[in-house]
Amino acid sequence: MPLTLVTGSASGIGAATVQALQAAGHTVIGVDLRNADITGDLSTAAGRQAIVAQALERSNDTLDGLVLCAGLGGQTQPASLVTSVNYFGAVELLDGLLPALQKGHKPAAVVISSVASAMLPWEKNPLAQALESGDEAMASAIVMGAGEQGGNLAYAGSKNALTVAVRKRASAWGQAGVRLNTVAPGATETPLLQAGLQDPRFSAAIQNFVAPLARRADPREMASVVAFLMSDAASFVHGAQFYVDGGIDAVTRPTQF
Ligand code: NAI
Repeated sequence: MPLTLVTGSASGIGAATVQALQAAGHTVIGVDLRNADITGDLSTAAGRQAIVAQALERSNDTLDGLVLCAGLGGQTQPASLVTSVNYFGAVELLDGLLPALQKGHKPAAVVISSVASAMLPWEKNPLAQALESGDEAMASAIVMGAGEQGGNLAYAGSKNALTVAVRKRASAWGQAGVRLNTVAPGATETPLLQAGLQDPRFSAAIQNFVAPLARRADPREMASVVAFLMSDAASFVHGAQFYVDGGIDAVTRPTQF
């Protein structure tokens, strides 16, 4: 039975992923701020280190799977929390848990990014250098200095850098025998999306962000793709970003893929 750690397990896409993985036979260790096997805070370096330490202790240093769902929406205040959780809260767990995954059976990891990852390309991402170099204070300063645009910048910039971080790890993780992919959801009915809809700064943009399939996703529609990527059926899928977005990336960027 694979042993898999899931962050953001208490809500939305993470909670649906826990259910899908359990149905596929995984034993899941959930991580979240509350209502989880490991409670901890991914927004601080100390919180992330404590979560990695507890994960290693609980798993006896051996994990078969890792799914990183924890994240915050662009409406979060202060906006610097978004870069801390969405980028550092994912990348530091990837790097901290790779040795445990290497010891696992047919190990795999999935990181939840976003369609927003492609909306602010790496070459134009003002956060790219600060995030890639691990300078959390600099990333916070850039976001906080962006005023009204800070939330959008923090969300799109951190998701762009997160997908790049995964792709840049494809070589090392492949050699380590651990598959690593991202899922890029479009608008999905979760508390995160509801919080954005209730914020006048983001509400109209979210409502106008209509996919060709003309509806929003149910979190289970993300979880089923995550479960596929974590399964043997995806044994040659590595370093890929799967858009699960009702077609919105295709209509936004038809010539780029
Ligand atoms: P959600 O709000 O339902 O779940 C996110 C979970 O992350 C919550 O349980 C929350 O407690 C946890 N979390 C937040 N900050 C944390 C921290 N500091 N430490 C530990 N856990 C923390 O949101 P949802 O929608 O399920 O989001 C999951 C992922 O999907 C996020 O990374 C989000 O950016 C991404 N996503 C969501 C979309 C949507 O429309 N809902 C669209 C594209 C991407």
